[in-house]
Amino acid sequence: MKILITGATGLIGQELTNLLLKDNHVVNYLTTSPIKKNPRENYFGYHWNIKTKQIDENCLEGVDVIVHLAGATIAKKWTKSYKVELLESRTQSVDILFELLKNKPNQVQHFISASGTAIYPDSFTAVYDENSIANDTTFLGKLVVKWGNSADQFKKLNLKVTKVRTGIVFSNNGGALLEMVRPIKMFVGSGFGSGKQLQSWIHIKDVANLYHFIINNQTEGIINAVAPNPITNQELTKAIAFQLQRPLFLPNIPRWVMKLILGEMHVLLFNNKNIIPKKALDIGFQFQFPTAKEALKDLF
Ligand SMILES: NC(=O)c1ccc[n+]([C@@H]2O[C@H](COP(=O)([O-])OP(=O)(O)OC[C@H]3O[C@@H](n4cnc5c(N)ncnc54)[C@H](OP(=O)(O)O)[C@@H]3O)[C@@H](O)[C@H]2O)c1
Repeated sequence: MKILITGATGLIGQELTNLLLKDNHVVNYLTTSPIKKNPRENYFGYHWNIKTKQIDENCLEGVDVIVHLAGATIAKKWTKSYKVELLESRTQSVDILFELLKNKPNQVQHFISASGTAIYPDSFTAVYDENSIANDTTFLGKLVVKWGNSADQFKKLNLKVTKVRTGIVFSNNGGALLEMVRPIKMFVGSGFGSGKQLQSWIHIKDVANLYHFIINNQTEGIINAVAPNPITNQELTKAIAFQLQRPLFLPNIPRWVMKLILGEMHVLLFNNKNIIPKKALDIGFQFQFPTAKEALKDLF
């Protein structure tokens, strides 16, 4: 198959690209960055500019599936103008692709978009699966709804649409886990708040495998990309310290301190979300790393 990936140069995109190329698929990618001079076999780069709505139309040639991973990072202070960028990099990019598909003959059958677990409201009692009401009203919750609505446009063109609601991706190559690992490595690690808040996560290899599985099986609809065993913040902090053989002696950092440092973004550290990957398990996807302990052992 030929797969067009947006954001292929990012954390998930690189892992997925490696997997697809290994499986003899061809990967076209849309990028806002310079295209590397020494291309890999079956890997072709095309430019787009979301702000000016420009796109190299050749990117669509022979493509069967689009995987939309592009988006400005959420790990940057959410100022008013950056909030606009967070949203538009995810939704206007979809609009550009939609217009292209609408107006140019093509053979694309499936649009797969990254999505976030921020859509599930903060709750210490709810257990969320793909059928749960997902109507979080925070900035990020609303962003995920709009992002998903953009992706749904492709149904009008009779494409299959999949939204991959992804938890915190555990990788040793970037992302939120490394931010947690760094202070623990430096002997100044600690949990946040009560530490009882559950965090839904997934190993980088599992999330890439899940996208691969969705592509191969043409899986439609919403799918939670989270490991079957969420972990509390305190357990995770301890598990990282154990894996790195570091002591933990500092008290947990209170919520108000992190709010001062991070502003609105602090909710990412304190929200409790018990999310299960019901659909992935129902359709027979096998997690290579179902527990955080196994994931951390593999990564560090
Ligand atoms: N990693 C996680 O823990 C996690 C969790 C939940 C959801 N997700 C979502 O999954 C998707 C992929 O995640 P990731 O961790 O692989 O992201 P990432 O490493 O931040 O990469 C995203 C890619 O998007 C492109 N990009 C960055 N800023 C952009 C902008 N302003 N406009 C257009 N494109 C831009 C870049 O590609 P080019 O330079 O090639 O253009 C970048 O490589 C994202 O939408 C993310 O929100 C990730």
